Amino acid sequence: MNLYKYVSNAINNKLGFSANLETPRNRNFGDFSTNAAMVMAKSASKNPRELAAEILPKLSELDFVENASIAGPGFINIKLRDDFIWDAAAQPHDIKTDKPLIIDMDYGSYNVAKSLHIGHLRTSIVGDTLNRIAKRLGHKTISYNHMGDWGRSMGLVIAWIKRNHPDWPFFQKDFNPDADYSKYAMPVDELDTYYPSAAALAKTDENFMEEARVITAELQRGHPGYNALYNVFLPISLESMMETVKRLNIMPFDRNLGEKNAAQYIEPVEKMLREKNLLVKSDGAEVIVVKKDTDTAPMPPVMFYNSRGAVPYDATDIMALYYRKITDNPDKIIYLTDIRQKLHFEQLFRVAEITGLFPPENLEHIGYGTINGADGKPFKTRDGNAAGLNDIIEMINAAVQKRVAESGKNLTPETIDAIALAALKFNDLMHDLRSDYVFEPESVTSFEGRTGPYILYTAVRLNSVLKKAANVSDSNLKSLSEDERNLLIETLDFERTVQNAFDNRATDMIANYAYDLCQLINTFYHNCPILRDDIDEETRAQRLKITRIAHDTLASAIDLMGLKIPEEM
Ligand code: ARG
Repeated sequence: MNLYKYVSNAINNKLGFSANLETPRNRNFGDFSTNAAMVMAKSASKNPRELAAEILPKLSELDFVENASIAGPGFINIKLRDDFIWDAAAQPHDIKTDKPLIIDMDYGSYNVAKSLHIGHLRTSIVGDTLNRIAKRLGHKTISYNHMGDWGRSMGLVIAWIKRNHPDWPFFQKDFNPDADYSKYAMPVDELDTYYPSAAALAKTDENFMEEARVITAELQRGHPGYNALYNVFLPISLESMMETVKRLNIMPFDRNLGEKNAAQYIEPVEKMLREKNLLVKSDGAEVIVVKKDTDTAPMPPVMFYNSRGAVPYDATDIMALYYRKITDNPDKIIYLTDIRQKLHFEQLFRVAEITGLFPPENLEHIGYGTINGADGKPFKTRDGNAAGLNDIIEMINAAVQKRVAESGKNLTPETIDAIALAALKFNDLMHDLRSDYVFEPESVTSFEGRTGPYILYTAVRLNSVLKKAANVSDSNLKSLSEDERNLLIETLDFERTVQNAFDNRATDMIANYAYDLCQLINTFYHNCPILRDDIDEETRAQRLKITRIAHDTLASAIDLMGLKIPEEM
């Protein structure tokens, strides 16, 4: 049950008035507090405390009210009945929306021939959690790994290979497109060095840059040799992406389709743009003007064809919109990238609007902040390079191993992996995704405090109680202690949290909810012994049931974060 909503609706119905419901931090005076009397008093020009006194008997009639009392200038505090909490908490969480949407989610969106790095961490982790939340709410999501697989970087990689192996068949006049070229496959570690080397060379060598531009355009127009070479390295890159995705326990993407797939729709998209007279010649390129008279900030035109006749990133995103329109026809498209792409998406959404492909309210860009090192600058490895995702995973793994060894525990490699993953992902999820945060590989692996390992540890603890107890029978309520009450009330906030997290596109709400829940679970665990011999049957049964409810709620939150609960810790 969404307790907050239930209580709020019931009060509003009873009073025929829409009041504000608060959940005070300190529950000594009440579980909820409403300003209804104060707001109603204004329009009725009455004294708020007097009005509150008139309202109290009405509120006391509600099925969940243990008692209602007046506080301060006219607030009304409401304490919930134990039996109401007990029954409500026993029901499974039901959060299915009655308005399911088709949502295209564009996250991850890795680049071919470029290894995954720290800049892909948030789009992967947050995107996956947002997707899990949307699914849990009953929306139909289609996740896109919209790969960077067709732009200038492909031209640079091919130009680099050409320079180092000019004798390879791909570059010869008599190239045979039907032969088998699989023996030219290179190890992924080698492939990953091509782009950085080529990009560095292109900075100082204009001829090389020009060659890459020409190759990009030729590749896009179907040059058989370049395309055959492309088809040699594409699967190598794709496989390595999928390995990292698996390692991160990210759900497989529904579509690994990016720029190249979109570019197939160049004809209908160009036709549409020409019919609407939207393509404007500009220095040998063709652009779409998206500036409005009301703009105060610069709004450059969108490049559709560059001066070499190649289609740049901007253009492939327009074609991707077209593709998604004619295939999924989604109610919403959510893009999750670094905040530095904000302008790109503003431009794109304007094109969507003027072409009539999608109205602006159906398109959403979530721009996330940067992950910094302790020095406040973007996180780098010790050698000063942007950290690779696999390096980061290994770094965290080593930190967990060290901690575990120090504590004298003996855990399996799978358990270490699960803890490391939780450390990394939870730390990412708990931060407001729109802000920067500082990443410290050591502290995120702590078993105490707001960390992934702490969350898992709490879940493992509940599991172990439940395992030892074997069966949890249905029990009757004796009465609830404060710790039991607080814990159950928190579980009744799960549905609201998931809904809010989705509505606000704020995955930190799930992470921080999980943490608060764990705090209450551990207080309960500490103060309310369960399996100890001196605990009577009834009390034990009640506490076991609370343990089961807390476990199920925590496990759901953990699942939404894409973490795995180990057997032991
Ligand atoms: N591949 C791009 C990058 O790594 C992100 C693509 C985001 N999605 C999109 N449809 N533009 O920066």
